[in-house]
Amino acid sequence: MDTGLKDKVVLITGGAGGIGRACALAFSQEGARVVVADLNLPAAEAVAREVGVHGEALALKVDVTSADSVRAMFDGATGRFGQVDVLVNGAGIFHRTPIDELSVEAWEQLMSINLRGTFLCSQAALKVMKPRRSGNIINIASMGGQVGGLVAGADYSASKAGVLCFTKSLAKNAGPSGINVNAVNPGVIDTEMTRPWGQEILDQRLAETPLRRLGTAEEVAWVIVFLASRQASFVHGAHIDINGGIYMD
Ligand SMILES: NC(=O)c1ccc[n+]([C@@H]2O[C@H](COP(=O)([O-])OP(=O)(O)OC[C@H]3O[C@@H](n4cnc5c(N)ncnc54)[C@H](O)[C@@H]3O)[C@@H](O)[C@H]2O)c1
Repeated sequence: MDTGLKDKVVLITGGAGGIGRACALAFSQEGARVVVADLNLPAAEAVAREVGVHGEALALKVDVTSADSVRAMFDGATGRFGQVDVLVNGAGIFHRTPIDELSVEAWEQLMSINLRGTFLCSQAALKVMKPRRSGNIINIASMGGQVGGLVAGADYSASKAGVLCFTKSLAKNAGPSGINVNAVNPGVIDTEMTRPWGQEILDQRLAETPLRRLGTAEEVAWVIVFLASRQASFVHGAHIDINGGIYMD
């Protein structure tokens, strides 16, 4: 199947993380040129080296909470590849702190990465994509943003609900400029983010999951590749749940 992604430039924030790395590898297998952007530059460079087996890749350091840093990331990407065709907003952090113990500082930190970061990167992407009247933005939200926090903290869930609604606003604004915008809602995926949860909590989640297993980063990545592909060109303002059936809406 020709996904139309050959030679496309795909910028992935949080590209050094579990899902980001899987996205980088999946897109490069489709022939895309990949920008692996992350706060953790050595880890981003390691992913870029892995991707290099399939095709071109560039590692960049970014702090998605900073407009200047995001601008520099887009300058770096366009300086190397001339354009950005696909943005995957994957940078994120997770908290499990109960509401009555959650500090304002922790709330602000998480919101600034998960929600402000998604806004800043999307806004910068529009500047590059609008003049070309094409582009694709995929936001990684979460099941937590649909059902509220239980394992996930209230701040995490609220940030991801924000990402989901931001996705719809962005889709309404950017659609007339030929830019596709969608989101995915992963459930419990086996990455560094969920490993600290401990076996008891994971076992509870597994018992509630009809498929009786955690998802893999690759299973999220290929849905994101699909959303960026020509086969999904009329999917817009949508979200796809990737959760083994633990939540069905
Ligand atoms: N793992 C899951 O079960 C799960 C479920 C739902 C949603 N998600 C979402 O998927 C995305 C990727 O998560 P993951 O599981 O791969 O986690 P991860 O911790 O493996 O990766 C997250 C990456 O984001 C980077 N990052 C953090 N702050 C940053 C900043 N300020 N600027 C740039 N990069 C920054 C980290 O360095 C890390 O590489 C996140 O948005 C997460 O909320 C994950």
